Amino acid sequence: MTPNLTTDLHPAGHDATQAAARVLAGGGLVAFPTETVYGLGADATDARAVARLYAAKGRPAFNPLIAHVGDLDAARRIARFDERSLRLAEAFWPGPLTLVLPKAAGCPVSDLATAGLDTLAVRVPAHPVAQAILRAFGKPVVAPSANISGHVSPTTAAHVQGDLAGRIDLIVDGGPVSVGVESTIVACLATPLLLRPGGLPRADIERVLGTKLTRPAQDVAADAPQPLAPGMLASHYAPRTPVRLDARDLRPGEALLAFGPCPLAGADAARTLNLSTTGDLVEAAANLFGHLRHLDTAGASAIAVMAVPDEGLGEAINDRLRRAAIPQH
Ligand code: TXA
Ligand code: MG
Repeated sequence: MTPNLTTDLHPAGHDATQAAARVLAGGGLVAFPTETVYGLGADATDARAVARLYAAKGRPAFNPLIAHVGDLDAARRIARFDERSLRLAEAFWPGPLTLVLPKAAGCPVSDLATAGLDTLAVRVPAHPVAQAILRAFGKPVVAPSANISGHVSPTTAAHVQGDLAGRIDLIVDGGPVSVGVESTIVACLATPLLLRPGGLPRADIERVLGTKLTRPAQDVAADAPQPLAPGMLASHYAPRTPVRLDARDLRPGEALLAFGPCPLAGADAARTLNLSTTGDLVEAAANLFGHLRHLDTAGASAIAVMAVPDEGLGEAINDRLRRAAIPQH
């Protein structure tokens, strides 16, 4: 499952910026410096590119990703701001602040990048190399920290190379980063919540908001916010229709989420979607949330899901499917 790519390393500059924009447009993966840490970028609107990104990081689960854009205008095309979030953006962007906001209508960011959520994490990085790449590419770029899952976030191009050489297309070397910890994440949905402390101090944010920031009720690891406050942020996407895993047959009224060349007998074509007819896990990941959403509107008694092998991206797909199968209220 480990891709074996040739990873180019370019010093930052005009040529590297153009190369980065070309790789992103072709669905590839580019590591680049932001002021916080190096990010691993992919076209946020291309689900297959996003699936490759999860595979390159070896993520055991599809955590939602941060969409990076060049300025506030670009951010307003993908997320809905209110008076408070606008004040924070105007005070701290570009900079080490990520805002979690409702997705804008028609937001082109793929469902896989947001892990199926209706909210979107957005950030405008200040680093000139990140800025140049975002402007040259012209579309939102999702970028988790450019390390293998479970390793520390990289602050130099050499760190990135150590972790990801052979797994990504390009590393743009802009020298060591200045902040060295990830961005501060604030959810502006209801009461502003501090989801992750980071490069922008909490007190600066509280000064602009004029109120204290609260943390989500659940105590969570610093680098892995799992927002759990009911009604404000769901920790994961789940369809309204019940989900039945590891289906080997179909029951009356069920829709089918198939995987592989042989969908279950008796499937109703109008209520069947296949994650990948060839059994390709990258394709399956790219289709996962879109297919679930679609089948959720089919008026079925349940969504029967065929088994997906628990290898490579299959581990993350199964993690998300198990969460989707937890009953909602
Ligand atoms: O400084 C940073 O933020 C770096 C640079 C590259 O920009 N990026 C970064 O991304 O740290 P990542 O993927 O390592 O961390 C993003 C965090 C994840 O823990 C994820 O759970 C959270 O943001 N997140 C993303 N979308 C979210 C959403 N809609 N609701 C709640 N949390 C979200
Ligand atoms: Mg990270």
